[in-house]
Amino acid sequence: MSTAEARPDPNPLAEGLERLPVHATALVIFGATGDLARRKLLPALYNLAHEGALPERFGLVGNARGDLSDADFRDQAIAAVREFSRREPDEQVLAKLFEHARYVPGSFDEGGVYERLGEVLSELDEVAGRPLSRCFYLSTAPGFFPVIVETLGDHGLQDREGGEVRVVIEKPFGTTLAEARELNERVLAVFDEQQVFRIDHYLGKETVQNVLAFRFANGMFEPLWNRNYIDHVQITAAEDIGIGSRAGYYDSSGALRDLVQNHMLQLLTLLCMEPPIAFSADAVRDEKVKVLRAIRAPAEEQVAEMSVRAQYAAGTVAGQDVPGYLAEEGVPGDSTTETYAALRLEVDNWRWAGVPMYLRTGKRLARKVTEIAVTLKPVPHLAFDREGSVGVRPNQLILTMQPNEGVSLTLGAKIPGTRMRIRPVNMEFLYGTAFLSQSPEAYERLIMDAMRGDATLFTRNDEVEAQWRICDPIESAWATARGQLPLYAAGSQGPAEAEELLAGDATWRAI
Ligand code: BG6
Repeated sequence: MSTAEARPDPNPLAEGLERLPVHATALVIFGATGDLARRKLLPALYNLAHEGALPERFGLVGNARGDLSDADFRDQAIAAVREFSRREPDEQVLAKLFEHARYVPGSFDEGGVYERLGEVLSELDEVAGRPLSRCFYLSTAPGFFPVIVETLGDHGLQDREGGEVRVVIEKPFGTTLAEARELNERVLAVFDEQQVFRIDHYLGKETVQNVLAFRFANGMFEPLWNRNYIDHVQITAAEDIGIGSRAGYYDSSGALRDLVQNHMLQLLTLLCMEPPIAFSADAVRDEKVKVLRAIRAPAEEQVAEMSVRAQYAAGTVAGQDVPGYLAEEGVPGDSTTETYAALRLEVDNWRWAGVPMYLRTGKRLARKVTEIAVTLKPVPHLAFDREGSVGVRPNQLILTMQPNEGVSLTLGAKIPGTRMRIRPVNMEFLYGTAFLSQSPEAYERLIMDAMRGDATLFTRNDEVEAQWRICDPIESAWATARGQLPLYAAGSQGPAEAEELLAGDATWRAI
């Protein structure tokens, strides 16, 4: 009897949670001492190491402007993991992970940095006794993306014999369609599309991937998944936090660019796409891009009636008084940047024509919640009204990404008693109780996938451009519109104006 046979799986809930093998890899992080690296990337590496998911031969190289030694970088990396890891680090695993980490100081546009990088990578190959695949992670301000990619190319680091080379590019991928196109051109002049991994961290979230599992692994919902049965869809990405110390970035971005152009449109594509022929990078992305192409970009004069933007004023969040956006540190007193955006879009194709798709996002709302709510059409005839029936509402299917990850379905049920009275009840599936393991952080999944060369959960060049094509006219109409932005109190449900976007009997779900 083999060992695997002798040891039956102790818990059936753990089934399917095992990790996939990864080729021996050197990961180079540009911007390795920055906020994203400290909060997300280094802790993600730790958690992968903790689970034994990193390849046995794994090299880490950090680059940033600060003049650090290898040892200083290791200390900083260890401190970042201690501060931000989702699990208490095991000291042995932590020490081993960073034991051979290397650091190459210097600016992103200095040729010398790339020469040194090439040498360090060759040294890592020698230690490993084989050519490692290389993964360059661009965790820098977006202005540096082109220069890093081009200088990697100038130094011949864009490919190598015996291993794969990949480049991971953080968001934002441009701030307009024209910029995204130019960036794509510059990146694709050096790398092939198959080597490029554009991050949208929402795609790394378990619950976001579950939208596909839910739709395409169950026969029950697909027959209803169209304009004949679905009345409207609401996608919400509400946050209770403000902009923290990110005024510099956020004030030039705003809610539409920060969350709608990427995360929210991605959620919409997963919800609306046709079944892919396989769960492979191109098959999935071909279907997603068709959804984006089916969304008609508004003409500038239509923007006012299909969108609402607003800014938070002072208010109370979780019992704490908080300042308004204009009083946040680093925000100009006359800023007209939106911290809230809501849109009504339509996916103009055979399946979805005429179904309003409502998207809303904002900072400093009542609480953090990310969900997709699909509201079905009401029943055609209600026979219970003589009984004084109350509370019959159309069924609603809610896919909750965070918090309380799961899926729930509201059904009408009879209230116990002698009369035929009905009220909505919930049927619920919760990740927390159905599965054993804690969900990995999005970045854990994405770093692994980039190292494995699986781009299914990354955005392709045409997808990114299609997203900007929808957002560009909204941005420019907002930029030219005069007048005061609507305000909403911090900690509230958002601006009253958002109600006007909704058609028919639809109401926004409470945040
Ligand atoms: C980022 C935005 O992409 O997503 C932030 O730049 C936002 O402004 C964040 O807070 C939200 O991500 P999550 O995973 O906390 O929902």
